[in-house]
Amino acid sequence: MSEIRICGYRPLSGEIKIQGSKNGALPILAASILQKGTVRIDNVPAIQDVDCMVGILTSIGCRCEREGSCLSIDASCLEGAKIPGEDVGKMRSSILLMGALLGRLKEAETWYPGGCSIGSRPIDLHLLAFSRLGAHVQEDVEGGRIRASAAALKGDTICLPFPSVGATENALLAAVLAEGETEICGAAREPEIASLCAFLGQMGAKITGSGTSRLCIQGVSRLHGTAFTIPGDRIAAGTYLTAVTATGGDVKILGAPWEDMQEVARVLSQAGAAVSPVKGEDGKAAGIHIRMEGRPKPLRLSTGPHPAFPTDLQSPMLAVLSRAEGISQVQENVFEDRFKTVKELWKMGAQIEVCRNEAVISGKHRLHGARVTALDLRGGAALVAAALAAEGETRVSGCAHIERGYEDICRDLRALGGRIWEHAQDT
Ligand code: UD1
Repeated sequence: MSEIRICGYRPLSGEIKIQGSKNGALPILAASILQKGTVRIDNVPAIQDVDCMVGILTSIGCRCEREGSCLSIDASCLEGAKIPGEDVGKMRSSILLMGALLGRLKEAETWYPGGCSIGSRPIDLHLLAFSRLGAHVQEDVEGGRIRASAAALKGDTICLPFPSVGATENALLAAVLAEGETEICGAAREPEIASLCAFLGQMGAKITGSGTSRLCIQGVSRLHGTAFTIPGDRIAAGTYLTAVTATGGDVKILGAPWEDMQEVARVLSQAGAAVSPVKGEDGKAAGIHIRMEGRPKPLRLSTGPHPAFPTDLQSPMLAVLSRAEGISQVQENVFEDRFKTVKELWKMGAQIEVCRNEAVISGKHRLHGARVTALDLRGGAALVAAALAAEGETRVSGCAHIERGYEDICRDLRALGGRIWEHAQDT
């Protein structure tokens, strides 16, 4: 076990390149088994969740080779439709293999997925999508197992009552090799869905409506290998932008997807930061530049499905607003249990009250260092952001959560002048 030590209260400056997107990479890794050849995926982040997905792919017969950030997956020798239980419980995205296996083999057996404990996170909408495509779904709730199979998958209309990211991805994965046309209404519009559609399209899938809430898929009989580059991670980039907004500084985050981060940029501007695109040689946005002086301004914020403010950056925003010059309100509209980090922020002097899905934050001039615990992935990152803005030393334990999604948060923030180190916990 390791912990992160941070000596804060000092502005950040410099530039870093952002890692590839975690939430972009995981569905694409799952989708790689829909074809019987090899896919080459570049800019794959070196994080625990990717290792876990590669472990599962290997265990079902894929040959995975990694060279730097490039991962090759040869899915020609898929051995079976059963996903072993061990790794499945460690992360949420393991459920995406169900749609992909169903698409390729017309059967899949797995266990209920794990992931951050930020709400009940049912998978009813994933299973609804499989049923709509003609699969027979069996749940052994007590035993924790799920099985789905079909003689043939047949395209149909799938209406999602909430734009679930995972359910949209699973519906796509199962539908691309189904017979006939599938329409997904109420689809999630997160940029990671558009990446998945682009990847599937490159493998030969026929999808229209990418980026909208209505996706139409014309099933094809087979898909083929391709090469694809994962976009920069908008949530990791957003985490570093919040750290700068909390503590001040002048930072460029290269590879951050500016177009996909408009709402984040708007909110951070409202908090007083100057946020602008970094222009690449071709004149297009190639990253994000942020400058921040003084304390953040208070604001009201609501999370929601894309293009609204991402729930994954809600906890890091609490860190920002804990230092704001006044009272802020944050409403969480996606996960019902995503304010757990508040009690850790209290230990640093933050004044936050939570009532149901709303937090009221009375900004303080100063936060102070403390011993705190990361309770989930983004909550852990929020503690790091708060610690960078706090006076004195903070120690964050529970770092395994953070490692699930950030390649090396200490490396990145040290490159920006942050005084932050990872230690074995007993030193
Ligand atoms: C994905 C992201 C996660 C992000 C979330 C929302 C990945 C690996 N994770 O998670 O980082 O916070 O989107 O942007 O991409 N729900 C149901 N039934 C279902 C599925 C979902 O009720 O079958 C509910 C959930 O409990 C939650 C809401 O829908 O309240 C959103 O969940 P969803 O969009 O599915 O999130 P994930 O795909 O799990």
